[in-house]
Amino acid sequence: MELKGCIFDLDGVIVDTAKYHFMAWRRLAKELGFVFTLEDNEALKGVSRMASLEILLKTGGVTASDKEKEQLAARKNGWYVEFISGMTPDEILPGSIRLLKALRKEGILTGIGSASKNAGMILDGIRLREMFDVIVDGNKIHKAKPDPEVFLRGAEEMNLQPSECIVFEDAQAGIEAAIAGGMKCVGVGSPELLGRADLVIPDLRKITIKQLRNL
Ligand code: BG6
Ligand code: MG
Repeated sequence: MELKGCIFDLDGVIVDTAKYHFMAWRRLAKELGFVFTLEDNEALKGVSRMASLEILLKTGGVTASDKEKEQLAARKNGWYVEFISGMTPDEILPGSIRLLKALRKEGILTGIGSASKNAGMILDGIRLREMFDVIVDGNKIHKAKPDPEVFLRGAEEMNLQPSECIVFEDAQAGIEAAIAGGMKCVGVGSPELLGRADLVIPDLRKITIKQLRNL
């Protein structure tokens, strides 16, 4: 492919914030009287805050009114923001900076495509904002992954066609979003979960631009 842009999911690809999301959701579940496991959490990855809450409530068999749901989501986010407020560049996942620098050296544009409304705060904490040409986060989009909106908006802001972009994702919903958007996709994580991606890698440490161009 003619590679002109790479769009990175943030949570779980550039930083391991998935653990903080899990800690906050588990705490909420505990308050609601049920246990939320790491396995249950897999379905929440890449999914928007409110959609995650719906899945969590369903898992626990809990019903709530719209107003209660707003309050529960705000409660979870309060804890989550507390967890991420102390983030530093030390928490950038291995290989991220190397790959971003290599892409930019080749003139390939870099972007963030995240469902999170807290993406800006995280990027400031880890001081990585300037490594991205475009940032599309949960504040800019209306439709959550697996809808392709977040990645299509990223390509559009880069002035690129979807076919010229590669998405990096750790979540099944994100892989589906990339496919739906007509983009090549690299899964970051386990092949059992991310098998629909064009390529699956354990992390960003070893991937080369040549491998990406060959997708
Ligand atoms: C995604 C995470 O990046 O952002 C999800 O993978 C999370 O777990 C979603 O629910 C929304 O994040 P936030 O920060 O807006 O609650
Ligand atoms: Mg993710």
